[in-house]
Amino acid sequence: MTWEHYRDTNRALWDERVAIHVGSDFYGVEQFLAGQSKLRFFEHDELPPLTDKRLLHLQCHFGLDTLSLARLGATVTGLDFSQPALDAAADIARRAGIEGTRWLQSDVYAAREALGGERFDIVYTGGGAINWLGDIERWASIVADSVAPGGTLYLWEFHPVADIFDDERDDVQLVARYPYFTPPSAPHRWDTPGTYTEGDAVTQHTVSYEWNHPIGSVVSALIAVGLRLEFLHEFPVNAFKRFPNMVLDETLSEPGRPYYVLPEAPERVPMMYSLRAVRD
Ligand SMILES: C[S@@+](CC[C@H](N)C(=O)[O-])C[C@H]1O[C@@H](n2cnc3c(N)ncnc32)[C@H](O)[C@@H]1O
Repeated sequence: MTWEHYRDTNRALWDERVAIHVGSDFYGVEQFLAGQSKLRFFEHDELPPLTDKRLLHLQCHFGLDTLSLARLGATVTGLDFSQPALDAAADIARRAGIEGTRWLQSDVYAAREALGGERFDIVYTGGGAINWLGDIERWASIVADSVAPGGTLYLWEFHPVADIFDDERDDVQLVARYPYFTPPSAPHRWDTPGTYTEGDAVTQHTVSYEWNHPIGSVVSALIAVGLRLEFLHEFPVNAFKRFPNMVLDETLSEPGRPYYVLPEAPERVPMMYSLRAVRD
């Protein structure tokens, strides 16, 4: 099957999810409008200074992360292949009174053309983004092209090691079930109704294709395109309930921004990671 087939199947699924996500407790639009930042607990310490910086958010969904970054002073461009997501982002920006935002509809792999060669001080991505892309080396070259000299890539993602374990078991065992390595031509094919914010939502588009990108592939791809890695951090907590038996982390969670850990020995498995790389 072709990339176009995978992409178009995934886009139909994402287009349909937008309205459900905008109304979900998981995303918490009302809390955002009341002033809550939607960034993760580690991002405030790890992001480069944002004031007056031009920031590109690849795969911005309906913009809550993008707009949280705008509130910290960045001039933001959100890029996503889902027009309904971008329409929702523009609407939330307007309701939040955040001006000067830009929303571009494009496949990540066509971002060069969509951006017309424009470069940014900061390229930001994460939170279930690169798993929708088959070719991580091609992604890295597009990222590198979008970062201005002296600029920064900041990425946080769900950890690919966590994604190999059986997510239907409800005990404390972790059993390897899914492949760690998924080449561009061999994605996971899922056929699952609902969505991660509303498991019982009725959805027409249930098929998706996703890739698990090993940490080594991501880091090596970024180094190969000339970016210099500043750090790679791994976290034993997760921003969604990855496994059915995970419990709320009371110290990190707040209304509209929960974090989950394994009920026993959470230090067994990394759940999220972040990295920062610069273009010298
Ligand atoms: C889980 S969201 C990630 C953003 C953010 N962390 C969040 O949760 O709101 C994934 C986004 O990737 C977008 N996406 C998936 N494949 C894409 C592609 N090939 N090009 C551009 N956007 C894509 C989807 O439309 C969706 O908005």
